[in-house]
Amino acid sequence: MHNDKIQIFDTTLRDGEQVPGCKLDTQQKLIIAERLDFLGVDVIEAGFPVSSPGDFTSVQEIAKLVKNASVCGLTRAVKKDIEVAANALKFANKPRIHTGIGTSDSHIQYKFNASKDEVIRRAKEAVSYAKNFVDDVEFYAEDAGRTDNAFLAKVCEEVIKSGATVLNIPDTTGYCLPEEYGAKIKYLKEHVKGIENVIISCHCHNDLGLATANSIAGAINGARQIECTINGIGERAGNTALEEVVMILKQHPYLNLQTDINTKLLYDTSIMVREKMGMPVQPNKAIVGANAFAHSSGIHQDGVIKNRETYEIINPADVGVNESAIVLTARSGRAALAYRAKKIGYELTKIQLDTAYKTFLQFADRQKEVIDEDIHQIMKQVNNISKIAIA
Ligand code: KIV
Ligand code: ZN
Repeated sequence: MHNDKIQIFDTTLRDGEQVPGCKLDTQQKLIIAERLDFLGVDVIEAGFPVSSPGDFTSVQEIAKLVKNASVCGLTRAVKKDIEVAANALKFANKPRIHTGIGTSDSHIQYKFNASKDEVIRRAKEAVSYAKNFVDDVEFYAEDAGRTDNAFLAKVCEEVIKSGATVLNIPDTTGYCLPEEYGAKIKYLKEHVKGIENVIISCHCHNDLGLATANSIAGAINGARQIECTINGIGERAGNTALEEVVMILKQHPYLNLQTDINTKLLYDTSIMVREKMGMPVQPNKAIVGANAFAHSSGIHQDGVIKNRETYEIINPADVGVNESAIVLTARSGRAALAYRAKKIGYELTKIQLDTAYKTFLQFADRQKEVIDEDIHQIMKQVNNISKIAIA
């Protein structure tokens, strides 16, 4: 693997599916898994096999179906979980077991009522046990975001000795600041013996709206895998959004970090996940929201009509969106009206545009948005308007 490649670990079907109301059946999961493979993700976390017979079957069927990506099953640091996951993954081309345990003081004291040494013992035991079934074992240090760096480094070093191939450093509660999370990854790179032989993974939650920023900070500081979901769905405020990290890396080539994602499929994949999970996306969502490439104020519309890059840093075609939208509202100017009128076949002279614009403002003041049907009405009221042929 090139040192500048960021592996995309998609957990839409595991962390994403934990969202209330997003439950999918096996058939729906298979459709999404196939699409994720086609999109170019490196790892598909297909589920938590021990959690239910349905999840077991889904992971097993996804393992049979997926051709290119690694297929991963989540476990706790519990032998039974690991056995069940190994069983579910046995038909996978590239199986991965994802096992781990909480490492923050809060998890150790309240969740396990155990000592730090005991947590390390269980972590090592889980990784060694998983290695009996698969070569590729990812270890997660749950709540690593709030875990003391020195202890986290110790845990990481021990699980590497036990055979972990990937170290997942989750900011489970979405608490870290980007500088802090980046520094954590840097600290591990500098203090953990053997870390050069494993991949460090970022798994960030969005409780403070920082999941994407934290994942990018992790990658800049040496992580080479990012765990994310389509549309950023996931527990509470969600996970890092796949489409966001992929486009950040693409739009900032000087970072010299690449993914294998076919970005032209991002929009359609987003639509597929919202429809299957019944989970709408807010209109102002970066990259895939309905307004991500829509312009409604007169000043912005005029700028975009003259040159798209005035107000757009991404070419919509790069993410599979047909074109930028010029939305007509009471804030729109003449340039926008002329542009939209031309799109539906009207070429306006300056005088005609002045007349049409007055009528347009009356429509716009009455309603939130002026649509094509309204434009036809407006044009009827303007004298001698000629319809042009539209290609
Ligand atoms: O957020 C988290 O810590 C997790 C782990 C189970 C990887 O989802
Ligand atoms: Zn998570």
